[in-house]
Amino acid sequence: MAQTVVVVGAQWGDEGKGKVTNYLSEQADVVVRYQGGDNAGHTIKFNNVTHKLHLIPSGIFNTNVINVMGNGMVINPRSLVNEMRELQKRGYYCENLYISDRAHVILDYHQTLDGINEERLGEGQIGTTKKGIGPAYTDKAARIGIRMADFVSDDFYSALKNTLKLKNKELVSFGAKPIDVVKMYSEYMELADIIKPHVCDTITLLNDEIKKGKKVLFEGAQGALLDIDFGTYPYVTSSNSTSGGVTVGAGVGPKTIEEILGIYKAYATRVGSGAFPTEIKDNYISNYIREKGNEYGTTTKRPRRIGWFDAVAAKYSAMINGFTGMAVMLLDVLTGVDRIKICTSYYLDNQPYQTIPARIEDFEQCQPKYIELDGWTEDITNVKSFEELPENAKAYLQTLEELVGIPIVLFSVGPDRNQTIIQRKLFK
Ligand code: IMP
Repeated sequence: MAQTVVVVGAQWGDEGKGKVTNYLSEQADVVVRYQGGDNAGHTIKFNNVTHKLHLIPSGIFNTNVINVMGNGMVINPRSLVNEMRELQKRGYYCENLYISDRAHVILDYHQTLDGINEERLGEGQIGTTKKGIGPAYTDKAARIGIRMADFVSDDFYSALKNTLKLKNKELVSFGAKPIDVVKMYSEYMELADIIKPHVCDTITLLNDEIKKGKKVLFEGAQGALLDIDFGTYPYVTSSNSTSGGVTVGAGVGPKTIEEILGIYKAYATRVGSGAFPTEIKDNYISNYIREKGNEYGTTTKRPRRIGWFDAVAAKYSAMINGFTGMAVMLLDVLTGVDRIKICTSYYLDNQPYQTIPARIEDFEQCQPKYIELDGWTEDITNVKSFEELPENAKAYLQTLEELVGIPIVLFSVGPDRNQTIIQRKLFK
């Protein structure tokens, strides 16, 4: 059993990480987000109340837990303050929230540019969440970004003035309106005052907690196949959503990480554009799964594309993340599906192909080869153990485990926290 656990979405995001991280955060002393921004959306349900988080780590509901927003994140101050206010209304005051002074800030022009970039791509658009994620990471890499330390300092005005000289040129060249520095500054100052008490050196804080033996949960956002390096480029997000992102996005050494849990859905979904070999083109099965699994984006409300479990992609994901365990979510959604398919190989140029090719054009050509299993009709939402599952559901889980080659440590049969069946404990 481990002191540090990473939870990573193993497919294209929306695998149900929120539920698992929330469950694990009850056992953790520290919960850390290490990449992404408010493009993420975690739905957490407990005590019959549904909470939606986009930026703040899911340990926020427990006042004894330290919640860290790491340096690898890009943070929109407006979204952050909205989320803090929403939590306050529900009695959670965010006194346990610590924001990295090195995290980059998403400002209004990032969002405007996200929209402009998508429009310019036309048919080839990524289908981003339009939250400004790509443009903010672009500025980070171009070394013209504004970080939290600057945002809450007295130098914010001059930093903004300098940046706007560049950004206004860019905006005007695309036909957008230039931004007035004084107006923008006054709007953001109010937000900076609210955020400032939370901004600190989270790297030292986190490493000190680890040295003290505290249990740390690293909470990934998006999914491994949306990773900027390993995902289905260019239809990816702009950060490293895989487990490797933890070290650079939170400031801990690679050897710090002990358990790496890959969260898989019992089927597959994807939002936005990009190849999806196992996609079930609009038919009664995809509609059934979409409605039953409420497969609509938490952040954008877009209907998600639905597909069969892709064991080739799943295995690739396990490899690049170094998963030590696998969680299978939303198993109950498949109840009532007569025959369930699993993709075990692709065919590319009439040859078997066992991984995700680098070129998206090749991935688009990959034809899935399926095995088919009998489904089950019994209600499984109340089962409390693997043994209580119908035989066909057991066989389905066992097949996934064999194909991916990683032990299943938990599976989920419903949205509530107590509908999670734990096979092996992760935290010591
Ligand atoms: P961006 O992260 O907004 O730049 O969007 C890039 C791609 O990642 C698009 O296909 C989005 O739909 C997808 N994406 C971003 N965040 C999430 C998420 O939390 N879940 C699922 N897909 C996401």
